[in-house]
Amino acid sequence: MARRAGRLPAPDPAPRAIIAVDGPAAAGKGTLARRLAAALGLPYLDTGLLYRAVGRRVLDAGADPRDATIAEAAARALVPEDLARADLRGPLADMAASAVAAIPAVRAALLDFQRDFGRAHGAVLDGRDIGTVVFPDAAAKLFVTASVAERARRRFLELAGRGVAADPAQVEAEIRDRDAQDANRPVAPLRPAADALQLDTTTLDADAAFAEALRLVRARLGA
Ligand code: DC
Repeated sequence: MARRAGRLPAPDPAPRAIIAVDGPAAAGKGTLARRLAAALGLPYLDTGLLYRAVGRRVLDAGADPRDATIAEAAARALVPEDLARADLRGPLADMAASAVAAIPAVRAALLDFQRDFGRAHGAVLDGRDIGTVVFPDAAAKLFVTASVAERARRRFLELAGRGVAADPAQVEAEIRDRDAQDANRPVAPLRPAADALQLDTTTLDADAAFAEALRLVRARLGA
């Protein structure tokens, strides 16, 4: 978005800035984006939760998450309390979210919410298409990746930490499926924006990934 002429620039570019954090499932974007938001004093939005909440509403209705009419109605009926539900994670919610996210009318219905959130005070948003579609003019864009094996390992440990029994091979297969579904859909597919800063966290622990992300973003913001 073009800046209005005649306005004095803010002394520090971080307040009100839009920071886009995109990448595949289980790459660590959420933790990273939340920490970036805290460090930069910006609100944080996990946009995956929107798709998860829509998928969950469709499942609640006993419908197929690929049903475009029902999924769009669910997206339009979404209320903030839906994002606080305790059942938005897990294999079923993962696949339902990925399925509704492939429906253009669902994406369109969720676009204004994301843009309004970011424009209100600036924000760090994480997702798949923040830097390409939702905020193509974001002040800084990070594309966070890690190898499939490492993402599967992290997701397995996360599930184990929550007491959820899982089969490592099955976890990896689900991540591959979701990658394929998110990257191959015709609308807003997962891909890095041309001006995104790439961050591969395969060999980085959470603190090292955060330090590098903050360095990259600060350099891009000139802060
Ligand atoms: O980030 P996540 O794993 O919570 O996202 C859940 C699903 O939602 C994911 O499979 C793809 C979709 N998604 C999307 O298409 N666009 C976004 N901005 C965020 C998530």
